[in-house]
Amino acid sequence: MKGIVFREFLQMVEKKFGYNLVDQIIIDSKIESNGAYTSVGTYPHEELFLLVKELSKNIDVPFSQLLTVYGEYVFDKFMSAYPHLTEKYTDAFTLLYNIEDTIHVEVLKLYPDAQLPSILTISKTEQELILEYSSSRKMGDFAEGMITSCLKYFNEEATVKKEVLNSDQSKVLFTIKKTHGKGI
Ligand code: HEM
Repeated sequence: MKGIVFREFLQMVEKKFGYNLVDQIIIDSKIESNGAYTSVGTYPHEELFLLVKELSKNIDVPFSQLLTVYGEYVFDKFMSAYPHLTEKYTDAFTLLYNIEDTIHVEVLKLYPDAQLPSILTISKTEQELILEYSSSRKMGDFAEGMITSCLKYFNEEATVKKEVLNSDQSKVLFTIKKTHGKGI
């Protein structure tokens, strides 16, 4: 997993809870990198899970909820960190529909060793978008946070239904239904 994902996570913890907790979760999670991440470096994704687990213990918020909160936080960061990939989008559905074939493809050109999920569009209408997430990293909760944040970013109101398709959470279906907007 790219260093930017770790750096932004530690920055979120610092902003919300202060530097002492950042320090503490780095020490207690006993991660090999000691929390020294460069944006373009690559580190085992398990380290992120260890850090989230420690944070979860410390603040007594479930692990899965923290992954979602982090997904929500990092979407805006990605939008501003990669303007050449994101500024052409003016609505949430078009961006979400283009993750698989455009956005993540460009990310892979920037970082050939990036580990990206597959986010297939199962169906798309004006009002409803159905996406299927699959990844061996099982970060469906994180994807949910990113989707929610994407809708907020474009000021769109929609419900996001998440269905886990297999027991190990490597496949998740998202049904995103607009509650306001064109056509209603
Ligand atoms: C709502 C839209 C998006 C969703 C749902 C999404 C989903 C994900 C997920 C779930 C991961 C974690 C890896 C995995 O699960 O296997 C990931 C990684 C990543 N995504 Fe996206 N993504 C979105 C938009 C974007 C955008 C707009 C950018 C940048 C322009 C971006 C860049 C990245 C990068 C850099 C990684 C880390 C790859 C690595 O560490 O190796 N994503 N994305």
